[in-house]
Amino acid sequence: MADLLERKLIVVTGKGGVGKSTIAAALGILAARGGRRTILVEVGGQRQLPRLLGHGQPPPIGNEVEVTDRLWTVTADPERALTDWLAGAAGRLPARFLTSRTSFQYFAAAAPGAGELLNMIKVADLARRSGRRGGYDLVILDAPATGHALAMLASPQTFTTIVRGGPMAAKAHEVQALLDDPQRSGYLAVCQSNELAVSETLELAQSLSAKTGRQLEAVAVNCAYSRRFSAAELERLGQLDGELPAVRNAVSAAHTVNERARLQARQLARLRRAKLPVVSVPFIFEHRLERRALERVADHLARKL
Ligand SMILES: Nc1ncnc2c1ncn2[C@@H]1O[C@H](COP(=O)(O)OP(=O)(O)OP(=O)(O)O)[C@@H](O)[C@H]1O
Ligand SMILES: [Mg+2]
Repeated sequence: MADLLERKLIVVTGKGGVGKSTIAAALGILAARGGRRTILVEVGGQRQLPRLLGHGQPPPIGNEVEVTDRLWTVTADPERALTDWLAGAAGRLPARFLTSRTSFQYFAAAAPGAGELLNMIKVADLARRSGRRGGYDLVILDAPATGHALAMLASPQTFTTIVRGGPMAAKAHEVQALLDDPQRSGYLAVCQSNELAVSETLELAQSLSAKTGRQLEAVAVNCAYSRRFSAAELERLGQLDGELPAVRNAVSAAHTVNERARLQARQLARLRRAKLPVVSVPFIFEHRLERRALERVADHLARKL
């Protein structure tokens, strides 16, 4: 796990809403701090990372923008990827093919998972351009939630079982080689310590292994509460009941946090029993997570990765 940030591609996925984008952004901060030219890739029309990283207005879809030193973001879009690709092949194609919408519709209708494959091709192309030649050292894919992410990762294989030759199949093979190579790519799951999210992570680990032969490099268990009170302290807190309302509320909050931490520990144990490498990330008590909070998450990951 220690060398995760040394690879060319990190795929971040997990259950919806567990903090994938937050962890992906924090990883990006960490890699950029370490001197790596890093790009975070969003998909599915998402454009929240530039704002989260303090960049203000999100750039147009498909534009790579440097949001902070050595850290870029981009929203990959299948239509834009296909147009760029066709434009690169312009000399060999009739001009009418370059009208993006029509050609995208043709392609999407002809090949199942076409959009996912085009996004993966974009990701692999970004990973191929080396940092020394104005490209990137590391690509972090803020992938969609588990099921959709697995479909995205399977898209090159899905395509090449149907279409065996031609330039798109060659590209799909290139993507597959990157996804298969533990030296160049790594998979990170984000999870929270509740029953559903942990079950989904265990299933993700199994499906990833069955479909791609790869293991999860780490599971970031996000929004973790720490157990702040010893048994003796909790007992003393209990004795404070019945005093001022403010004290009662504080005591009740202390018990609630303690109980949540206890339940979380039980779920964490399920991940550890499955021998998954767990990295817990604390719940950050802020109204809205922004750049400063992400830096704190990055500090935390730095100690664990
Ligand atoms: N460690 C944390 N402490 C407190 N709040 C957090 C933490 N991590 C994430 N959040 C908050 O949880 C919410 C969901 O986070 P995020 O958008 O990163 O999840 P996601 O998995 O990317 O969601 P989606 O599936 O919609 O893409 C956000 O409001 C975020 O600020
Ligand atoms: Mg997200």
